[in-house]
Amino acid sequence: MKKNKISKNWINKQRRDVYVRQSIVEGYNSRAVYKLKEIDEKFKIFKNGNSIIDLGAAPGSWSQYVSKKVKHAKILSIDLLDFEKIENICQIKGDFTDDVSKKKIKDYFYSKVDVVISDMAVNTTGNKNLDSINTSELCIEAMNFSKEVLKEDGKFISKIFMGSTFNEIIHESKKIFKENKVFKPAASRKDSKESFIICKFLR
Ligand SMILES: C[S@@+](CC[C@H](N)C(=O)[O-])C[C@H]1O[C@@H](n2cnc3c(N)ncnc32)[C@H](O)[C@@H]1O
Repeated sequence: MKKNKISKNWINKQRRDVYVRQSIVEGYNSRAVYKLKEIDEKFKIFKNGNSIIDLGAAPGSWSQYVSKKVKHAKILSIDLLDFEKIENICQIKGDFTDDVSKKKIKDYFYSKVDVVISDMAVNTTGNKNLDSINTSELCIEAMNFSKEVLKEDGKFISKIFMGSTFNEIIHESKKIFKENKVFKPAASRKDSKESFIICKFLR
């Protein structure tokens, strides 16, 4: 399919999408917010006073959600890209996988945190299998980082792609966390292999 035909299809899909329209009305930067909202409502993730790390945060709707929902929260967001300033959030531009970024995050909190959320995804290459492998690597890196920074009763939420690396992710998550669930919110497009892993309580 030609490139401009793909982008026309994408624009038409966005126009029809109820979550896109809702996010505009409610002032969120992306429809992705409704995935996190549904996860939060089902798995009771956030509590007032929580410290929260948002990995791969741009354009910022997950950070907007926690900033509004969680009173007296301490929140840090990181992304490779710049994104607009969000109230009550410490925003870092950088590659999460760099040691320098990890140190900045740890230094900001100084002590262990309550929740790590990651919606990180690599730029797509067009090869679905390769994209899923690359995004899975980010998920595993985020999970290993969470092991270092989370409190014992901490929670970890991450985007995953159902594919060849799924079993490895589940295997790793079971080594680190006592509770592990996989959930696909209604707002996650049906034709996408995207899903989310919800982990609680460090081993
Ligand atoms: C699906 S978007 C996140 C959407 C976001 N949750 C929201 O609600 O607006 C995925 C993001 O992951 C970021 N990302 C990918 N690899 C990253 C890395 N190594 N470090 C930091 N951010 C990364 C991308 O730049 C992109 O903005």
